Amino acid sequence: MKKISSSFSMSAIFIIAMFTSPPCSAARKLLSSETDTAFIKTWCDSTSYPDLCFATFSSYAAEIKGSPQILATKSLFVALNTTRSASKSFNKLRKKQGLKTREAAALQDCVEEISDSFDEIKRSVAEMGESGGKSFAFRMSDVQTWASAALTDENTCMDGFSETAVDGAVKDKVRTVIEKVAHLTSISLSIVNRYAGAKN
Ligand SMILES: *[C@@H]1O[C@H](CO)[C@@H](O)[C@H](O)[C@H]1NC(C)=O
Repeated sequence: MKKISSSFSMSAIFIIAMFTSPPCSAARKLLSSETDTAFIKTWCDSTSYPDLCFATFSSYAAEIKGSPQILATKSLFVALNTTRSASKSFNKLRKKQGLKTREAAALQDCVEEISDSFDEIKRSVAEMGESGGKSFAFRMSDVQTWASAALTDENTCMDGFSETAVDGAVKDKVRTVIEKVAHLTSISLSIVNRYAGAKN
């Protein structure tokens, strides 16, 4: 009997504390931010690059709020923006003096592939944002098609710079840039795939 009443008074104190102390809303906020972050972690873990994924999207956790749709859209925008800046760096690199013929040719190919990739991700983003007309499944299939075409182009660029004939600093720079783009596109594609599959 004593035990029950003491635990009763403990809960009473807890309840009073819950309703009177201001940190309560802060605690609730903390709890929901943990849930939002856990959601990002779970989705990132099912991609091929969980660490890069989490590093990229955890800062958007509060905005994404556990919504697969917002995460999928955000991931496409991140891929799009990274592709845009890759395109800028490649164009800058291309103007560098003293490029070997072979490097210049591989770089030229990459500039074209990355430009195609940018257009494809843009189409993917546009499909994602469509609301009327097509069914969800049909629209998502277009989103997937364009994102996967973009990834193919990025991999083609990467392959051109994997050959041993192309060597040195330019190769390292291009590989670093294209790898990031390709990994972020791959992450976006797996998020989109999972989102599309979950809704079907
Ligand atoms: C992508 O770039 C646009 C334009 O610069 C910017 O408004 C947007 O916030 C960026 N999105 C992400 C997810 O980086």
